[in-house]
Amino acid sequence: MTAPADIKLVITKIKDEAELLQALAIREVVFIEEQHVPEAFERDDEDARAHHLLAFAEGHAIGTGRLVVLPSPPKGEKGTWGQIGRMAVLQSHRKHGVGNLLLRELETEARRRGLTGVLVHAQLYSLGFYETHGYRPVGAVFEEAGIDHVEAHKKLSP
Ligand SMILES: CC(C)(COP(=O)(O)OP(=O)(O)OC[C@H]1O[C@@H](n2cnc3c(N)ncnc32)[C@H](O)[C@@H]1OP(=O)(O)O)[C@@H](O)C(=O)NCCC(=O)NCCS
Repeated sequence: MTAPADIKLVITKIKDEAELLQALAIREVVFIEEQHVPEAFERDDEDARAHHLLAFAEGHAIGTGRLVVLPSPPKGEKGTWGQIGRMAVLQSHRKHGVGNLLLRELETEARRRGLTGVLVHAQLYSLGFYETHGYRPVGAVFEEAGIDHVEAHKKLSP
């Protein structure tokens, strides 16, 4: 994994309950405190079965994201799909490539599992981030947790 030039960055799969709590703490700061997403929405049952990643900078947990395998493909698609979500990097560490690395690692895991594609519910402001990674917006803008989102898809295998 390539680390940004100025910080020592390590991205790992969450290995125990303590690390899951670190990921949830980052999500609390970013989604609940910064973006005012209701806690009841932020925490869901998918956390128990998701593949979670943590990004550490100089040993401190500063970013997270998760992959959930979906029970059925999104409308208009075939195969087994995953949803990447809860991508969060602490404000102090944004724009250093952490989000790029988290997304790439989650896609690598999706490929390792043989998934056909992955989708995201992108906040409108962050759609550009996903588009640079090859995601294509589909369908209309919708509101989720009080924030405008659009679904975006990326095929991983033909
Ligand atoms: C979205 C988020 C995870 C990106 O993390 P990050 O570490 O700042 O991202 P990176 O530094 O890896 O930037 C990746 C690329 O996307 C671009 N980018 C980052 N945020 C962007 C945004 N909001 N809109 C458009 N482009 C964006 C960067 O310029 C960079 O482009 P480059 O690789 O050409 O330089 C982070 O901004 C965040 O935690 N936001 C708040 C939570 C959130 O909105 N999560 C997404 C929910 S859909």
